[in-house]
Amino acid sequence: MAKSKSRERSRGTSTSKSKRPQRKAGKNAPIVSSPLIEARDSKIHGKGVYAVAPIKKGTRIIEYLGERISHAEADRRYEEKGMDDGHTFLFIASNRTVIDAGVNGNDARFINHSCDPNCETVIEGSRVFIDAIRDIKPGEELGYDYQLTWESTDDPADLALYACRCGAKNCRGTMLDPEPIDKKKKKKATKKKQRKQAQRKTKRAKRKS
Ligand SMILES: C[S@@+](CC[C@H](N)C(=O)[O-])C[C@H]1O[C@@H](n2cnc3c(N)ncnc32)[C@H](O)[C@@H]1O
Ligand SMILES: [Zn+2]
Repeated sequence: MAKSKSRERSRGTSTSKSKRPQRKAGKNAPIVSSPLIEARDSKIHGKGVYAVAPIKKGTRIIEYLGERISHAEADRRYEEKGMDDGHTFLFIASNRTVIDAGVNGNDARFINHSCDPNCETVIEGSRVFIDAIRDIKPGEELGYDYQLTWESTDDPADLALYACRCGAKNCRGTMLDPEPIDKKKKKKATKKKQRKQAQRKTKRAKRKS
């Protein structure tokens, strides 16, 4: 499943009116499509998404849309499909929600993984947006780092299904996150414990003085 960073980011404002992403209506309407991009065959895998006009760094290009489901339902669908090709249209939007772009998805679902990405995913209020992190020329394929979650106990044969073919000079050879999720959680818990211990120590020191 694709995991992403939850980070605020400013909207791209430097594109002309006709090149702005198309929203249905209203400020919070989904960004269903964009005149800046098109989906077509990719050398990396299947279909990819390409710029058809210059895209400025910081531009919000499109929203990752699809059916919003629970993690349990995502696991059920994923297991039902089997693990034989590593193909996924699932995106973790929050602790509660996964977006399955296999159902009612838009072109965002065709953006391939890149180890040298020109885009990033930004989560805002459990909605997922694709933003340009550098200027992109027409004809360039869009890509973001999937950082797929995995556990240190996962079968290496299963993990090998996520081999990367992005072709970047710095390709790390996999679409998986460099660190397993269980190790990350452990680190986070240790840091929290250390922070609390430090807070208690400061309180004690203040009481003494
Ligand atoms: C969200 S889809 C991207 C669109 C896909 N190319 C298609 O035609 O359906 C994600 C899947 O595309 C494939 N994929 C994407 N980026 C890849 C890469 N850099 N190397 C190998 N396979 C990739 C993997 O099978 C991955 O699970
Ligand atoms: Zn790569």
